[in-house]
Amino acid sequence: MSYLEVTWTDDETGINGYIVVDRLSRGVAGGGLRMRQGVTIEEVRDLARGMTLKDPVLWQEGDLYVPFGGGKGGIDCDPYDPRARDVLRRWARAMKPVIDLCFATGEDFGVRQDLIDEVFAEEGIRSSAEAGYRLAPGGVEAALARQDAAFAVRVDGVGLGELVGGFGVAEAALAALDHRGMKPSESRAVVQGFGSMGGATARYLALAGVRIVGIADREGVIYNPNGLEVETLLLTRDSHGVVDRAQLHAADLQLPSAQWLSCDAEILVPAAMSYVIDVDDVANINATIIVEAANVSTSLDAEEALRARGITVVPDFVANTGTNQWWWWVCFGDIEPTAQSAFTMLSSRMRPTVRTILASADRDGISPREAATRLSLSKRAELDSRYPRTINAVELVE
Ligand SMILES: NC(=O)c1ccc[n+]([C@@H]2O[C@H](COP(=O)([O-])OP(=O)(O)OC[C@H]3O[C@@H](n4cnc5c(N)ncnc54)[C@H](O)[C@@H]3O)[C@@H](O)[C@H]2O)c1
Repeated sequence: MSYLEVTWTDDETGINGYIVVDRLSRGVAGGGLRMRQGVTIEEVRDLARGMTLKDPVLWQEGDLYVPFGGGKGGIDCDPYDPRARDVLRRWARAMKPVIDLCFATGEDFGVRQDLIDEVFAEEGIRSSAEAGYRLAPGGVEAALARQDAAFAVRVDGVGLGELVGGFGVAEAALAALDHRGMKPSESRAVVQGFGSMGGATARYLALAGVRIVGIADREGVIYNPNGLEVETLLLTRDSHGVVDRAQLHAADLQLPSAQWLSCDAEILVPAAMSYVIDVDDVANINATIIVEAANVSTSLDAEEALRARGITVVPDFVANTGTNQWWWWVCFGDIEPTAQSAFTMLSSRMRPTVRTILASADRDGISPREAATRLSLSKRAELDSRYPRTINAVELVE
C-alpha cells in the first residue's frame, strides 16, 4: 500500500493530476512527473513503487547521497494540448504543500525540466527537488547552486540533464552486450522514443559503435538497416522528441508505429510510454537484449516469455536510474557539476551493477528483475536499519 496518494481535479478543465508517495525515507520521496493523456492513479502508483526499488540500486557505502523513498507525479493531459502549461501550473499550485514537505520531483515522460522549473518558479517553488535538498551538505542554498551549475552544462548541443539518463541506459546496454559476449561494433539497436531518454541512449550507443537502425516517436518508426544519422536527428528533433522528417535521407524508411518491435536488431530500447511489450508481442521480437529505459515497459508475463526465449531484459529500475542518481550525486556533492564527472561516476556504477545482476540471474536461475529486486531490497533493508523513514525532513534538519 502507498504511504500517501493525492488526486487533484483541475477546476477549469476537469483534468486529473496525481501524486503517489510509495514510501518515505528520511521523510522524503523522489520521482518524476509524467504528463500523458490517459495516465491513471494505478500507473502513477506502479511508477512510484518502481522509484522505491530504483533509488538504492547504485548506492554504495560512503556516498553522501543516501537514497530516499519512491514517489511519482502524473497529469492526465496531452503535452501538446494548448492548455498543458496552465494545467501544470495549477497542478503545482495545488500540490505545493506536498512538494514543499516531502515530494522531490523532476522531468519525466511529456514534461521537460526547464518547463517544470519555469512553472514552479511562478508558483513560488525554488526547485522541484527542494524537499530533498534540505538534507544535502550545506543545505538548500548549496544544493541549488550545484544543481544550477550542473543543469547549465551542455554537451554537443544538448543539456547534461537530458543526457545522463540515456547515457546510463547505454551503459547498461553495453554491460549486457559484454555479459552475452557480443561486441558493440557488431550490434544494431532500435529505440522507441526519441525524447530525453531515447535521444541520449541513441547518441551514446552510437558513440560506442552500435548501429542505430530504428527510431520510433509518436509519429511512427524511422528505419534504415545501414544506420540512421543520429546526431542530425537529435539536434533537429522538436522539444517533445519528435523527429523532423525533413532531415531524413532517401534510404530512411518510414514504417507504422507497431513495427518498432520486430525490426531486425540485437538491442531493443523502449524509451517512451509504459506497458509497450505484452506477452502477445514476444513472438515478434528479434532482439537478444531489451534494455528498459521507459518505466514499466514490459509486462511481467512478457518478461517471463522473453526469458524462456533466451532474451535478456535489463529492468527499468536499474537501466534508467541515471538522471535520478546523477541529480542527487551532484546536489549532495558526491560528484562535480561537470559532464566528465557525471559520465565517469555513472559508468563506474552502472556497468558492474548490471554485470553482477545478470551473473546472479544466470547463477540462480532467476530473471534479471528478480536478481535486481533482491539487490535493491537488501540495500533498502540496510538503509532502513540506519535511517528513520517517515520522520519529516524539516524536523530532521532542525
Ligand atoms: N527523463 C528522465 O529522466 C527519465 C528517467 C527515468 C525514466 N524515464 C522514463 O523514460 C520514458 C521516456 O521519458 P522521457 O523523459 O524521455 O520522455 P520524453 O517526453 O522526453 O520523450 C518521449 C518520447 O516518446 C515518443 N512517443 C510518444 N508517444 C509515442 C508513441 N505512441 N510511440 C512511440 N513513441 C512515442 C515521443 O515522440 C518522444 O520521442 C518514460 O517512461 C519515463 O518514465 C525518464
